[in-house]
Amino acid sequence: MRRTIIAGNWKMNKLFPEVEDFLFELSENLEAKDLGKIDVIICPPSLYMEIATDVAVDSKFYIGAQNVNDKDLGAYTGEISACMLDSMDIDYCIIGHSERREYYSETNEMINAKVKRLQENAIVPIICVGETLEQREQGITQDVILEQLNGAFKDIRIEENVIIAYEPVWAIGTGKTATPEQAQEVHFLIRNWIRENYSPLTADNLSILYGGSMKPANTAELLMQPDIDGGLIGGSSLDISQFTQMIDTALNIK
Ligand code: PGA
Repeated sequence: MRRTIIAGNWKMNKLFPEVEDFLFELSENLEAKDLGKIDVIICPPSLYMEIATDVAVDSKFYIGAQNVNDKDLGAYTGEISACMLDSMDIDYCIIGHSERREYYSETNEMINAKVKRLQENAIVPIICVGETLEQREQGITQDVILEQLNGAFKDIRIEENVIIAYEPVWAIGTGKTATPEQAQEVHFLIRNWIRENYSPLTADNLSILYGGSMKPANTAELLMQPDIDGGLIGGSSLDISQFTQMIDTALNIK
């Protein structure tokens, strides 16, 4: 069954005391709720993963990492591997975020290798794809998305769970959200690609998230689209009241 996912990508934000406050408040907020088919995920900076998993273990939310290395263990200063995440009971990991593609030169090949390491360690990858404004204006959005999908999914079987996030680069952190119709068009393309390359059942079950200036005011219209199964939320996930409002909207709609 297709799950609805509300995931917060904190990026490089929050100091330790704020992290504790947020997580305890989230835990309390979710306690009385029946989340049904909704999964709530928080992806904090890796430094805070230990406290995050400690709180999450008795709460109704999961913890995800924001990145992982494509090697197992060894002399890679500053890096974190999938088997380490697994040993910390981390359930999800964002891969191929446009900020990593842009600032850290991540290629589709590297993203593909990271997906493989995550799957070997039973961690669910949240694979990000999305076009830049220039690419959209050139009319090559579909080509870019398909190239990213072909690269990230090379030799990947989807027996285990995989999540895809469509994040138009021009909408991330800019306050410019894709219209529900623009987002739905790309989500439909992605689901169709999964249908053709895997199976109709896999396509039906796979959750495709939207990301890019998603906030309480636009959550409902986005989630009402047939192929939008949740959000990967940056800025608005830093504020407990905005984030829980978005969870409540998802509960009302899905
Ligand atoms: P934003 O970020 O919600 O701040 O636009 C989304 C993301 O980059 O995942």
